[in-house]
Amino acid sequence: MFRRNKRSEAQDESALDDDMLVVVDRSVNPYLVLFHEPAGYRAEQVRGLRNRLVAMNPDGEPKTLVVTSAVRGEGKTVSALNLAMAFAELERQRVVLVDADLRRPSCERYLNLNSQAGLTDVLLGRESVDRLLRPAGYRNLMLLGAGTRVDNPAEVLGSSRLDQLLQRLKERFQYVVIDTPPVLPSTDAGVLSAAADGTLLVVRLEKSLKKQSRDAVRTLHDMGGNVLGTLVTEVRGQDPESDSRLAYGALAEDEEV
Ligand SMILES: Nc1ncnc2c1ncn2[C@@H]1O[C@H](COP(=O)(O)OP(=O)(O)O)[C@@H](O)[C@H]1O
Ligand SMILES: [Mg+2]
Repeated sequence: MFRRNKRSEAQDESALDDDMLVVVDRSVNPYLVLFHEPAGYRAEQVRGLRNRLVAMNPDGEPKTLVVTSAVRGEGKTVSALNLAMAFAELERQRVVLVDADLRRPSCERYLNLNSQAGLTDVLLGRESVDRLLRPAGYRNLMLLGAGTRVDNPAEVLGSSRLDQLLQRLKERFQYVVIDTPPVLPSTDAGVLSAAADGTLLVVRLEKSLKKQSRDAVRTLHDMGGNVLGTLVTEVRGQDPESDSRLAYGALAEDEEV
């Protein structure tokens, strides 16, 4: 028989039911804070963004959301995953993450999953999306991976099947979060942004160049995207985890208010 360890506060926060054995997979990307540190300040920041997006959608209609940025390495994939996980925490919300970075797909790797057929296979008409959706390994979050590698990603994304696919996903899910390639090097992100209901631009503090982020917003607007706002990552300075003013857990017995 297995004996359960004493549960930590963090595990209590994320537990679905009392008897669930919580296994944290260390190979999952460490910056997926909703997964690794669900009770931490950073996870709470992501929930704040999620709540603002929910508030922008008072009728609770299904929505497609693109997460993008000007150039590579700014934290798009990690942000898209964290946001999708935060949506999946909400009760009764069906959420799917779509890896639409056909050039450098990474959602499966960050989740420590093997790559399988996915988006490209649907867009090329080889498979139906319903057969390819799979659990992402976090609550009820589902994943549509990038799929079989293609050497003409722009053409594949330009397919008229893209709109049909997003419509189909909106019939099944409340929130469809879409990870994309960067805006400036190719037209893929612009095409996806135009097809989605809203777009979030990731800016990596101190690393992203203001001009590039501005150019990316202009490009997205020009292509018909609806840019809802920016998502700032890697805020430096004092580590928020060590700033007691930013913690708001239950009071310890000897702690003053
Ligand atoms: N908040 C963060 N702080 C430091 N490194 C991060 C952070 N978020 C992501 N990373 C790392 O930065 C790299 C790029 O992140 P990724 O999300 O893949 O960017 P993009 O999708 O924009 O190319 C990855 O190695 C990732 O692990
Ligand atoms: Mg990425």
